[in-house]
Amino acid sequence: MPDNTTAWRPQRGTQSRMNQIVERIDKVKFGPWAIVTGASSGIGKEFSRQLAANGLNIVLVARRLELLKELGQNLEKEFGVQCRAVQVDLSDENFIGTIKEATQDLDIGLVVSNAGTGNPGSFTKKNRDDLLMDVRLSVTAHLELCHHFAPVLVKRGHGGILLVGAMGASHGVPYMANSGAAKAYVSALGQALHFELKDPGVHVTVLTPGFIDTPVIPKLLEDPGALPMKPMSAARCVTEGLEALRANRAVYIPGLLNRIMNRLVPLSIAQKMEARMLKK
Ligand SMILES: NC(=O)c1ccc[n+]([C@@H]2O[C@H](COP(=O)([O-])OP(=O)(O)OC[C@H]3O[C@@H](n4cnc5c(N)ncnc54)[C@H](OP(=O)(O)O)[C@@H]3O)[C@@H](O)[C@H]2O)c1
Repeated sequence: MPDNTTAWRPQRGTQSRMNQIVERIDKVKFGPWAIVTGASSGIGKEFSRQLAANGLNIVLVARRLELLKELGQNLEKEFGVQCRAVQVDLSDENFIGTIKEATQDLDIGLVVSNAGTGNPGSFTKKNRDDLLMDVRLSVTAHLELCHHFAPVLVKRGHGGILLVGAMGASHGVPYMANSGAAKAYVSALGQALHFELKDPGVHVTVLTPGFIDTPVIPKLLEDPGALPMKPMSAARCVTEGLEALRANRAVYIPGLLNRIMNRLVPLSIAQKMEARMLKK
């Protein structure tokens, strides 16, 4: 294992960017290894990058192995950390066995359970198998990861779990009924664990983003221009998420405007806006 305190050297041109992201997270408390699901793209890829910039070694998890390997090589080169790519479909019933095997020799201090997708559409037209697969990815996978790693973290007496939910999901999202309900589960699970694991010294935070500029947006909306506001960058979402984890916030919505909207916009109006955007 490299000595991360000396091996990390920012490359030319990255110093100012690095100044914004270093020391978001304490590698002694939350390291030496973090596991990030959905690391091949979007928010998970950015979590991996920012955690590596903080000196954590990363287990990169998703289905597209080549992307994970390429990311791992880049992070190792840029930040002097170690990465391990694990190809797994989190909607497979026995995926947790693969994760256990791939991490059994590692001291995991942080779990970022982020992988997910959005499947808009009318509930009555959805295929039963697709709905159940979505539940395995967006509910069961979070449950399995927490159930496996939480006791390990409690035993260590420090570390963290960050679950990625979605802003506004707890009220039910028309035309994303199943995906929204799954995110409501994630939020409730995380908030309960936040309470249970606080005394043993483990931080648990549910990050509930609004619209974030990742490849998921064109999958959700035919016309991303129809969004009520410009999507936030994944970098900002993750930076704020790591701050929230460090402060051990139970739930955190990145972006002040999102927090204001979430608090002030009445449910009936929020649901009408969501229905208008997602129905198409
Ligand atoms: N972007 C937004 O506006 C937004 C808003 C609220 C919440 N979120 C949540 O943020 C999380 C990350 O989304 P994103 O925006 O970063 O989307 P993204 O760019 O599409 O990334 C999704 C990640 O999840 C992985 N994934 C999907 N299905 C998987 C499966 N069956 N097994 C293993 N990995 C799987 C994908 O990897 P592979 O395809 O390689 O498997 C990919 O790495 C999701 O939980 C999403 O619901 C996003």
